[in-house]
Amino acid sequence: MGHYGDLQTQIYQDGLRGILPDYPVDFATLEQRAEHALSPSILNYVQGGCGDEHTQRSNVDAFHHWGMVPRMLVDCTTRDLSVDLFGMKLPSPIFMAPIGVNGEMTQDRRGDIAVAKASALTGVPFCASTLSNSPLEEVAKAAGETPGFFQLYTPKNADLAESLIRRAEAAGYKALVITLDTWVTGWRPRDLNSANFPQLRGKVLENYFSDPVFRSLLARPPEEDIAAAVQAWATHFGKVLTWSDIGWFKSITRLPIVLKGICHPDDARKAVDHGIDAIYCSNHGGRQANGGIAAIDMLPDVVKAAGDTPVLFDSGVRSGSDVVKALALGAKAVGIGRPYAYGLAIGGANGAAHVLRSILAEADLLMAVNGYPTIRAVRETGVQRTAE
Ligand code: FNR
Repeated sequence: MGHYGDLQTQIYQDGLRGILPDYPVDFATLEQRAEHALSPSILNYVQGGCGDEHTQRSNVDAFHHWGMVPRMLVDCTTRDLSVDLFGMKLPSPIFMAPIGVNGEMTQDRRGDIAVAKASALTGVPFCASTLSNSPLEEVAKAAGETPGFFQLYTPKNADLAESLIRRAEAAGYKALVITLDTWVTGWRPRDLNSANFPQLRGKVLENYFSDPVFRSLLARPPEEDIAAAVQAWATHFGKVLTWSDIGWFKSITRLPIVLKGICHPDDARKAVDHGIDAIYCSNHGGRQANGGIAAIDMLPDVVKAAGDTPVLFDSGVRSGSDVVKALALGAKAVGIGRPYAYGLAIGGANGAAHVLRSILAEADLLMAVNGYPTIRAVRETGVQRTAE
């Protein structure tokens, strides 16, 4: 059986025939390429974050103060990166985090479909955002056999929330990811300075515009009065959730429920007490609050508090080594965010797939060199906090 790291051999072999990789394998070059591919408004929206973007930078930098000790004389000729999640065996420990402007990241404005295709190409699950240029049913189909998750921005209108959940169930999504930190948008200077908020320009709202409950709330359909439809979206977006709402979600769906945005151990404990199926430790990539603590530094306490409940993680993951460090700190699965979005911008489905394959290749080779044949071995060896 092949290994993710085989990508490296393939790249060098292709080089012997004068063929260079179509897309870069490192984040810095990837971001530079995306900067040239995207319009200023969408680039600002994707690249930017909250406040002076301190948290966003810390998310990335903090990975550097966690280090791994290599083990020698371990047979690592075969590596197993598979994980069990929600009763499924996933071939790798990564997934694509929900990104609500994927649809705008490709020239044809069907970036959500391209991401789902990248999922089908790689076997890496995609978490589809509520914000999408293509209805969630179409997105699910494009992912083929690869399981996907649906991320919900809970609307204030309970019937609309239920409708979106029912559609996600019917479309075959395997988990419901409820984002907790975004009932209101954080203060994002780059977008504010250019007065640009894509949703208010009628973008990425197809899941609403195609929803029977949403449509029933409108005097005229979106095709006839887009401005009124956008206004209705703004009115209904962003229910302020509290712990008392969890019972409602559990009462209406049998999908595993994942809470995205949990960073405090007490919240992790509460989530477990409420019978949540998984906790998703994330600070939204520093896009929502400029709180100052890197997400990866909050992960260990969340994992400890979560006990046997699986913990998903994202925010600041830029490479395969970051993935392995997050696994070592106890994450069950690791979400890739901006890197795959930049791959999408420069190469559509193939570009995003290349980014995922590169991250997995680096993770696999790190495990090979460091003497960790399995994720269990990664966890057992752990990571050490190094100097700041
Ligand atoms: C996001 N994120 C996000 N999260 C979510 O739950 N629903 C969404 O629609 C979006 N949309 C979105 C748009 C853009 C442009 C970005 C960059 C991010 C947050 C995302 O799921 C993830 O938490 C972050 O991307 C992780 O940070 P990094 O690793 O990308 O820096």
